[in-house]
Amino acid sequence: MARLFPTLCSQFFFCIFIILAAADDESFVRSMDRKLLGLKKEKLSHFRLYWHDIVGGQNPTAVRVVPPSSNSSTAFGLISVIDDPLTMGPKLSSKMVGRAQGFYTSASQQELGLMMAMNFAFMEGKYNGSTITILGRNIVFSKVREMPVIGGSGLFRFARGYVQAKTHWLNLTTGDAVVEYNCYVMHY
Ligand SMILES: *[C@@H]1O[C@H](CO)[C@@H](O)[C@H](O)[C@H]1NC(C)=O
Ligand SMILES: *[C@@H]1O[C@H](CO)[C@@H](O)[C@H](O)[C@H]1NC(C)=O
Ligand SMILES: *[C@@H]1O[C@H](CO)[C@@H](O)[C@H](O)[C@H]1NC(C)=O
Repeated sequence: MARLFPTLCSQFFFCIFIILAAADDESFVRSMDRKLLGLKKEKLSHFRLYWHDIVGGQNPTAVRVVPPSSNSSTAFGLISVIDDPLTMGPKLSSKMVGRAQGFYTSASQQELGLMMAMNFAFMEGKYNGSTITILGRNIVFSKVREMPVIGGSGLFRFARGYVQAKTHWLNLTTGDAVVEYNCYVMHY
């Protein structure tokens, strides 16, 4: 018995240790009923917005922060930070419903291909303050470019979906552009 005690004792403490460790392991995670977050039925929404990228002039909404590699015909390496108005109609003077904030970078050496990383920050009605996040590949001269919606905030928590971007107007001299964005977003 005297010889057994140390083994039993150490096993006992070992077991306690295992139990405590296991309990501790799980204390940072729990499964939840989605109703506790007020999540009801998932919805699909379609937004049509016009994105205004103003590169030239006195009040640009796109600012080049990293110049492209010197002899690239596709502006490879360029990074521009944007705060572009999103309007209901194609005219800049039409009602603004939000802003596209983020950056794009020229990420292709073969064609004019951008990597877009931006938040659409809505400022209208019940959507005011909610955002969707778009991250994707934008081959500027193709007719329709599709990019994923990878998430969102506010009314767009748990958002996923895609956008289709179509150039509405482009000034090749200045680089200014108006792009129609059709956004298809699943959210609660
Ligand atoms: C331009 O690119 C060519 C190869 O495409 C290279 O040989 C040359 O050094 C480059 N010039 C500059 C100024 O970077
Ligand atoms: C959107 O929210 C901001 C901050 O809460 C507020 O200042 C602004 O007036 C709101 N805009 C609209 C159109 O409701
Ligand atoms: C493009 O911009 C330039 C410089 O502002 C202007 O002279 C030209 O008329 C514009 N072209 C179009 C098609 O709007």
